Amino acid sequence: MILNFAHRGSLTEAPENTLPAMEKAIQHNVGAIELDVQLTKDNHLIVVHDQNFSRYNKNTAGLIKDYTLEEIKKVDVGSVFSNSYQGVTLATLEEVLDMLPEDILLNIEIKNSPFVHEGIENILVNCLLDYNRLGNVLISSFDHDSLKTVRKLAPNVKLGLLLNHKLFKPWVYARNLELNLTSIHPNVKQTNKKLIRESHSLGYKVYPYTVNKVKTYNRLVNIGVDGVFSNNPEIFAKSINNN
Ligand code: G3P
Ligand code: CA
Repeated sequence: MILNFAHRGSLTEAPENTLPAMEKAIQHNVGAIELDVQLTKDNHLIVVHDQNFSRYNKNTAGLIKDYTLEEIKKVDVGSVFSNSYQGVTLATLEEVLDMLPEDILLNIEIKNSPFVHEGIENILVNCLLDYNRLGNVLISSFDHDSLKTVRKLAPNVKLGLLLNHKLFKPWVYARNLELNLTSIHPNVKQTNKKLIRESHSLGYKVYPYTVNKVKTYNRLVNIGVDGVFSNNPEIFAKSINNN
């Protein structure tokens, strides 16, 4: 089974990581969606990739983590994408969970560096428990300590290991973490046959990021990836049942 992830929702069709971007992805019958979470100043889970507003609203200075949810909800992050999205704001994770069909796998990436969001793992796990969603999420992070914390809090949740640079034998590194990982998420540039084969031999699925060209996607599927993260609806709308 190939499972492709709509990266930050459908970010070419609506402002990334917002509810309209999630809606667009859902309209493509996507099997899985990826989003990023951080904490607001008052400890709400906010769905956003960058640490500051500059890409989303040029008139709002400073770090997102220094704003309360009420303040964040006053910031228009839609106009920069197009006038038709004027007034769209960042969403809380709860807002996404409220609208997301239960059968779509949600990959939640904890954005935890360079600014550590103290306690984000606990808040996230409690939120997912409240929504009865722990069974159909995949939690990932470049911050592997954060994944260790999640594992202690949620012994059965699916965890994905994000890799952002070329490690020597990343599958050995992954195994030695003893995190009972479901998947590893390498940069597409470090994804090759050997990495896929070794990862599979340890029981990990391999989901490279970010694959936007169909030609690249087809090559990766041919060498055995289990799915990709993609901004391209032509790619993320495809799931192939090759079992
Ligand atoms: O999870 C895959 C991908 O989203 C990681 O990179 O920077 O887009 O969050 P980034
Ligand atoms: Ca991400």
